[in-house]
Amino acid sequence: LIGAGRIAAGYDTPASGQVLTHAHAITAHPEAVLSGFWDPSGEAAVRAVNTWGGTAYHSLRDLLDGRPDVVVICAPDGHHERLLRDVLDHPPQLVVCEKPMTLNAAASSDLVRCYEQAGVGLLVNYQRRLDPVVRAFVEASRSGSLGRLLCGSLAHSKGIKHNGSHGVDLLRLALGEPHAFTVTGHRLDYDASDPTVSAVLEYEDAEIAVLAGDERAFSLFEIDLVFERARYRFHTGGLRLTIQRPRPDPVYPGYLELQDESCVATGFVGSLGTLVQLCRDRLVLGGPTLIDAGAVLMTQKLCEALASAPLHRRTESVEL
Ligand SMILES: NC(=O)c1ccc[n+]([C@@H]2O[C@H](COP(=O)([O-])OP(=O)(O)OC[C@H]3O[C@@H](n4cnc5c(N)ncnc54)[C@H](O)[C@@H]3O)[C@@H](O)[C@H]2O)c1
Repeated sequence: LIGAGRIAAGYDTPASGQVLTHAHAITAHPEAVLSGFWDPSGEAAVRAVNTWGGTAYHSLRDLLDGRPDVVVICAPDGHHERLLRDVLDHPPQLVVCEKPMTLNAAASSDLVRCYEQAGVGLLVNYQRRLDPVVRAFVEASRSGSLGRLLCGSLAHSKGIKHNGSHGVDLLRLALGEPHAFTVTGHRLDYDASDPTVSAVLEYEDAEIAVLAGDERAFSLFEIDLVFERARYRFHTGGLRLTIQRPRPDPVYPGYLELQDESCVATGFVGSLGTLVQLCRDRLVLGGPTLIDAGAVLMTQKLCEALASAPLHRRTESVEL
């Protein structure tokens, strides 16, 4: 693990019931072994090793000389590009990078090319793609069994690139690319280079409103999609999914209205465990994965375009 902060090692401990860190997911997998951590803050690496085991490496080269099969980059966003390039000097078989891959889609495209040329697998951890509850929804949406999309929304905070990208990625997976978008507002609630955005995304039959929350008040992540035959609402930070279906109105005869069918936990919390299994399968069986860097490049392009577009100007997606 490169970086020994919260998502790498800090959110939980071996005694925690839930798997919230890469270290926990790796140590809980029967076929995986945690080699150790490198972090420029030696203290963070030692703290992580004390909790999870493995070696506290003194440098990136020291870590790579240990010949791990997989390296997971868990450093802050601004360091990903440099680390991805440095890892290629002495590469493992597979590199997993936390999202976003870099701060710049052109750099990400270049890295996808470099990794392909070097024959090294590169995955970006859009872990919602791995959640079985999300997968079932994506399949239903793509199969047409839900009918036409009528309307929807994505509400987010803490930057369209940093946090909103999870939602944009999920919309792309379930609905395909929007034809066009118009940005109507920016809120700087986290980082000046990454606004939280209000916008309208245009699809064939419907529009989706992108709504800007404010991380300084609370964290917001919700996706609400209304189809002809069902409504899927991911809420509570994306940890729960409520499905509604149109049913006869119990009060006014002759009308249909949406009524709750189920409310379940999504698999988001378990998805780092699924990621370890995905890495194992990728190493043993080969083949493409759901989170190959090339497959999520467009998510980064779209988020960057939403972050930088002039307000109230309609942009066709083909311009990206
Ligand atoms: N996929 C998800 O849902 C999800 C969730 C949380 C975080 N993340 C991503 O994980 C990354 C880390 O987030 P975090 O919350 O754990 O951050 P953090 O600040 O808690 O930890 C980052 C660690 O990286 C170390 N570091 C700094 N520069 C480094 C470098 N050049 N090389 C190696 N390590 C370096 C820091 O010392 C720190 O210990 C971010 O890119 C974030 O977007 C993704």
